[in-house]
Parts: sequence; C-alpha cells; structure tokens
Amino acid sequence: MGGVPVTTVAGQHGTPMYVYDGDMVCSRYEALRSAFPSFEIFYSMKANPSFALVGLLRQLGAGSEIASGGELFLAKEVGHDPLDIVFAGPGKTDRELEDAIISGVFAINVESLRELDRVARIAKLIGIPARVALRINTTVGLSKSGGGSAGPLHERMAGGPSKFGIDEEKLDALADHWDKRAVEIAGIHIYTASQILDADEIVENAKRTAAAAEHVERVTGEPLMAIDFGAGFGVPHYEEEAPLDLPALGARVEEVFRPFSDRKDMRLILELGRYLVSECGVFVTRVIELKESRGERFVITDGGINQFVRPVLMKVKHEARVISRLCSPTPTVAKLSGPLCTPIDITSEQIQVPEDIALDDLVGIFNAGAYGFSMSPQLFLSHPSPVEVLVLDGEIIEARRRGTYEDFILKQNPLPGSV
Ligand SMILES: Cc1ncc(COP(=O)(O)O)c(C=O)c1O
Repeated sequence: MGGVPVTTVAGQHGTPMYVYDGDMVCSRYEALRSAFPSFEIFYSMKANPSFALVGLLRQLGAGSEIASGGELFLAKEVGHDPLDIVFAGPGKTDRELEDAIISGVFAINVESLRELDRVARIAKLIGIPARVALRINTTVGLSKSGGGSAGPLHERMAGGPSKFGIDEEKLDALADHWDKRAVEIAGIHIYTASQILDADEIVENAKRTAAAAEHVERVTGEPLMAIDFGAGFGVPHYEEEAPLDLPALGARVEEVFRPFSDRKDMRLILELGRYLVSECGVFVTRVIELKESRGERFVITDGGINQFVRPVLMKVKHEARVISRLCSPTPTVAKLSGPLCTPIDITSEQIQVPEDIALDDLVGIFNAGAYGFSMSPQLFLSHPSPVEVLVLDGEIIEARRRGTYEDFILKQNPLPGSV
C-alpha cells in the first residue's frame, strides 16, 4: 500500500481493518483524466463514502455523483462546489429534492416523468428554479451477456423494464411534464450496468448515449449542456478477466462524443465508483481459529460477512491470501470464514494457505475498496465495526476509528425502568 506493508498498517491499527491505497486512487484518477481528456470524472460515492477518500478525490478534481440526502451532506462536508454534484436515484424524497435544489447541485437526475413533475412542484414551492438531467432508460441495454463477472446478471440498469430512468419511448410526452419556468433541462444521464469489462459494450453504450442526447435535443428543441455517460467500468475478479485497456477505450469513446465535445460549454461526465477505488482496498483480518472437520479445513478470522458481505451478496469471488506469509508455499485448500454464528459467513469458498498456517496470521481479501464497508450489515451479530485506514504518500491515516461495544446502544433507548 503506497510502499507501506499492509502488515505494518495492521500492526499499528489492528484487525479487522479496511486499508486503502490513496496513491493508487490518485493514479486511477489521473489515468482516467488522460484517457478521457474531454470528460470530467465524477466519483460515485456509493462505492465507498469514506470521508477521507471522498475528500481525496475532491482534492484531485473529481466531482461527486450522489444518490441520497446523506451523500449530499457528505459532498457538501468535503467542500464540493455544488456545480460538481449530480444527484441520481430512483426514489428521492421531497426533502432530498428540496435540499438538492437549495444546495444548487448541477443536476438532479430525474428518473421518471412523475419525478420531473415533483421537482417542478417543489421548485415552485420554494421559489428556486431546479436544474435536472433526464436519466434515460434506453430501449436496448447491454447487447451481449458478457459484461464482466458481477455485471450482467446482477447489475444491469437499462434496457428492459426498470426502476431507473425514463423509458426512452416516453420522451415524446416530455412537453406535458416540463414546466419551463420551474425546471431547466441541463442534460441527460444514462447508466447501463456496472462491472463491464467488455470494451465493445462500453463503446456501444457510448453510441446509444450520444443517440439519446440527439433525441432529447430534438424533443426539447434546445442544446444540452451536459451528458453524463455513466460508464460502468469494471475491475477483474477472476484470472480469466482482463482489465480494460483505458487509453484504447478512451480514444474510442472520445471519438463517439466528438460532435458534443467540440461544442463550447458542453460538460461530458463519467461517473465511476469501483474503477476508482475497488482495487485500492484490502480487507484485512486475523486468524483466530483453525479447524479441520470431516476432511475440510476452515480458517476462521476476526472479520466476516458482517464487515465484507460482497462475496455472498453479489456471488462474486474476491481473491484472498495469507498476507503475513506471502512467500510461503500455499499447498492447502481451506474455506475462509468470519466469526459469525451463521453458516452463510464464508468470505472465500477456497483459499490457498500455507500448510502451517497459524493463529494470528493475517488474511487479506482484495478488491475491497468498493462496496465493502458501507454495503455490509455491520450490526449483524454485534461485532464492532472495522477501522478504516488510508495510506497516502507514505503516511498512515486513520480514516474511521474502530467501532466500540457502546456503538450498539448509542441510538437506542432501553426498556423504560429496566436499567
Ligand atoms: C447511477 C449509477 N452511477 C454510478 C454507479 C457506480 O457504479 P460503479 O461503482 O460500478 O462504477 C452506479 C452503481 O450502482 C449507479 O447506479
């Protein structure tokens, strides 16, 4: 991690621990900037809303794509210019919409014509015009099934019936819902799927997005100010998966959007979560028990699916290794589990371990920087939440303190008269 052994970080901060390589986040961001020079990079905060990470990305120059009032709060806390915030999500409450309008975010990405009505009503009520982008559910989504390991099955978001976006064929009814005095249509937003590793699919999505932008301009009769081309860039989880060739992909996507990037005052946006942070994170746990049962070996660690749920929730493999002994041969196959008293607590079905793996060895689960800490059911079985550490420029920064037992009763009231 930025030249610091993870074992050193674990020695200082203990386990279970999420550790993030801030230098790698910076190089991911820079690689995206140079491959996509016409695009602004927005960070999809849902991937990892760590205050420190979001702050780092803002410092680098990224905007934020948010999807809740809480994420709006965080975006403001890290000091974002509101014009560098876009707000997506299929179920925004009136309160969230009102906050977003008052905050002056660049665009509320409306996900239905009904939501467009609601934004107009709220804008009129508070007397501040709203700026929106139309999120469009294109008629075709991913054309092939082969997007990437966790993508097509789990994380498709356009193409068929969907809770995301306005069905493209409904755009003709836009005039009935667009109150021009209350709402400015600044742009469009399309997000097809996550975890796409097939460059051709991404280029196809780019073409569909460009076509949808032209469609919206025909319907509104006005030029758009912004195109938010979601993206969905994936990261490899399996040996047979190759990482995206970013410079080559960038050149192809830039070409598709050339008619728009040539225009003055046009904002082209890529919104990315996992591509920026997934491979930068490792979830580090300590071996607390070893067991052999009827021919199977179990390595039981102090961090389980309560703290890193992705392997079971998304049914995706996360590479895991005994990082305290990276040089030892690993001839033995074991099941990696956490301490939870439930059979679903398996973080890896198959991990190769040294024959003499011992208590206190450290196990790292990789690709844990995205959808790790925040996606996991931290309260399940009442283990304190893990510490989060950012390593940046050789400095080891505690980004979130470890949880305590007291956290579990912090927001609760006891039964009256019982304690
Ligand atoms: C609208 C939208 N944008 C961006 C993202 C981020 O996706 P990823 O982390 O795969 O880049 C998501 C993920 O669900 C999303 O729904």
